[in-house]
Amino acid sequence: MLSGKRIILGITGSIAAYKAALLVRLLVKEGAEVRVVMTESAKRFVGELTFSNLSQNPVFSGLWDGSWTEHVHLGAWGDLMVVAPASANTLSKMAHGICDNALLAVYLSAKCPVIVAPAMDADMYVHPANARALGTLRTDGVSVLAAGTGFLASGLTGAGRMAEPEEIMQAVADAFGPRPLAGKRVLLSAGPTREHLDPVRFLSNGSTGTMGYALALEAHRLGANVTLVSGPVSTNIQLPFSPIPVVSAGEMYDAMISRRENQDIVVMTAAVGDYVPLAYSDQKLKKGQDNLHIELTRTKDILAELGRLKAPGQVLVGFALETHDEEAYARKKLAAKNLDFVVLNSLRDAGAGFGHGTNKITLYNSTGSSYHFALQEKTVLARELWAAILKDLNI
Ligand code: CTP
Repeated sequence: MLSGKRIILGITGSIAAYKAALLVRLLVKEGAEVRVVMTESAKRFVGELTFSNLSQNPVFSGLWDGSWTEHVHLGAWGDLMVVAPASANTLSKMAHGICDNALLAVYLSAKCPVIVAPAMDADMYVHPANARALGTLRTDGVSVLAAGTGFLASGLTGAGRMAEPEEIMQAVADAFGPRPLAGKRVLLSAGPTREHLDPVRFLSNGSTGTMGYALALEAHRLGANVTLVSGPVSTNIQLPFSPIPVVSAGEMYDAMISRRENQDIVVMTAAVGDYVPLAYSDQKLKKGQDNLHIELTRTKDILAELGRLKAPGQVLVGFALETHDEEAYARKKLAAKNLDFVVLNSLRDAGAGFGHGTNKITLYNSTGSSYHFALQEKTVLARELWAAILKDLNI
């Protein structure tokens, strides 16, 4: 799987360093050539000899050992750099460009993609300083693997466990995986919209944005140039790029319509409000009579407008959330809004739709075919959904 791939493995001071030995074995077993760079703290947990034996290459750890330019050569040599375990100290230094050991010098010299697998105590993992460092690294294009939750060496239980070697292997495989969307532009919308009645109250819905964020992340992983227009979401999915934030259906309309040109694929996953209060009070509404009547007016249908303006060759994907006669309604939306695909969520399926980590969907194309997907985590589903769409499009 990794035959001929050159991987730099950075190991830092964490008890999870012992799992890095297994990672080296897995990488070598898949045919990768591995060179290990360790910090001094890492060597307190596992000896250099373990890694030089497993990798069949000398371990680099002293910036002043041998040729002082070794870090530059090693950085240029790698096809991929993985830092696992990545301690809070090293992550913070990477984020700030500090260069006071061999691992950091290699990181700053590397031209290849970089993956980090944080490992630390639960309180350190959630500390705002660590969250800031991870945010900066993501902005710099580093792939950050989420730490697992469970028993920690300190005796605490929480988030901070290094991703398992098998998960890191999956991320490594993904980094070398096919990138069928390279050179393509993908525009997506995600999350709910809010229609304000006054400065403190609004009409909205239960969309968390998770499905849209998962699809955006997967499109990015497949090599696309992704633009994501995001309502006020409540998802945990971290993106390596910044979405364009919007609040109301009107703002989402403007953001999507103004960016639709030159897009290869446009996907509307957002749960857009269909109605907006006719009047907005810029002061907080005071309570009065027992009954309050609010007059609502229709919002513009963004997807229908995108369908009307669709450029030749552009692919348009819509979502449909239905409670009955699902297939008939989904196919009706596909035709009425000039879509190439519609993704149906049926609220009759347990675990589907809003507020779940999972979803159950069916994909319909404009020539009458359908693809059924099993109930899955939304992140897994995003992968399968893109695979089905790209297969259908022969991409
Ligand atoms: N959508 C949109 N603009 C709106 C409302 C919906 O772009 N103002 C998009 C959604 O993002 C989704 C699709 O239209 O991709 C289907 O939305 P849904 O609310 O299920 O269907 P509607 O077309 O609004 O029809 P109905 O309310 O009758 O189900």
